[in-house]
Amino acid sequence: MSAGFRHHNLLGIADLNREDVNQILDAAELFIEVSRRPVRKVPTLRGKTVINMFFEASTRTRTSFELAGKRLSADVVNISSSGSSVSKGESLLDTCKTLEAMRPDLVVIRHAASGAPHFVAQHIGCSVINGGDGAHEHPTQALLDAFAIRKAFGTLSGLKVAIIGDITHSRVARSNAALLKLFGSEVRFCAPRTLMPSHAETLDAKVFHALRSAISGADVIMLLRLQKERLEGPLVPSLREYARHFGVSQKHLELGSSRAIVMHPGPMNRGVEIHTALADSERSVILDQVEAGVAVRMAVLYLLAKEVRAQTATQAASDAG
Ligand code: NCD
Repeated sequence: MSAGFRHHNLLGIADLNREDVNQILDAAELFIEVSRRPVRKVPTLRGKTVINMFFEASTRTRTSFELAGKRLSADVVNISSSGSSVSKGESLLDTCKTLEAMRPDLVVIRHAASGAPHFVAQHIGCSVINGGDGAHEHPTQALLDAFAIRKAFGTLSGLKVAIIGDITHSRVARSNAALLKLFGSEVRFCAPRTLMPSHAETLDAKVFHALRSAISGADVIMLLRLQKERLEGPLVPSLREYARHFGVSQKHLELGSSRAIVMHPGPMNRGVEIHTALADSERSVILDQVEAGVAVRMAVLYLLAKEVRAQTATQAASDAG
């Protein structure tokens, strides 16, 4: 692994090249081992401060960023809109400037507005990580998905990846398509017409409206949550109707490649986009994705923290002795 990381922020997969992705995933390979030790802590980011600003609900992303920071010995502070001055009407810029004055090293931001982390990055000096912005990008999710895919297949190239669900509102779909394109895998988006963006073809994906053809020969079957909080108007007749046409169950596995894996970024709507037996089946790597999430976020925090750029992840992992 080369020592330096050439980015100050992680705002989207669109800014990364293949080497950047490999650098993050290779560092994560070392950090996943830290999470499996009896003492899950290394001193790598001692004296650094990470602020997690979550202006939208989150279980996995927020917890894993917090654990990632803590396992690297950083001081981690969590802010959410409820309980902070955002609920009193403070602007995003004022909130960020206020927090910047407390001298954090890294800020993670999740926001309902696409572009919010980019806006923040233009106005504050510390490193900014996008924890999901509207329907735009969710780079650490795509990286952890890549980690899980690489673990299953040993490569990110030459695979067929079917991403099925609410594509219109999914930052996960966009970031995954951008990452897999870098490695030359085929990405298929599958959704009813009402949940497929009109510009889907420009997002590095093949467009499908029929589930069976999208899954045919797929190595990865990635299901997405119907984003009920972002649906404006009746985009699906009913959840039952959606589940009947786009819900994936074990019976669909025979359409995929013999080694097909099932993924979901969570949270799942069991019985809607994914049948419960499939979610819990041996083909499901959903909990591997969660485990990878901590390691990948450790890798991202580590690589972005300026003062550790000269160190290698191997050294960082061995610091724990
Ligand atoms: C995703 C998100 O927030 O974009 N979840 C996650 O980060 N694990 C997907 C979703 O909310 O459906």
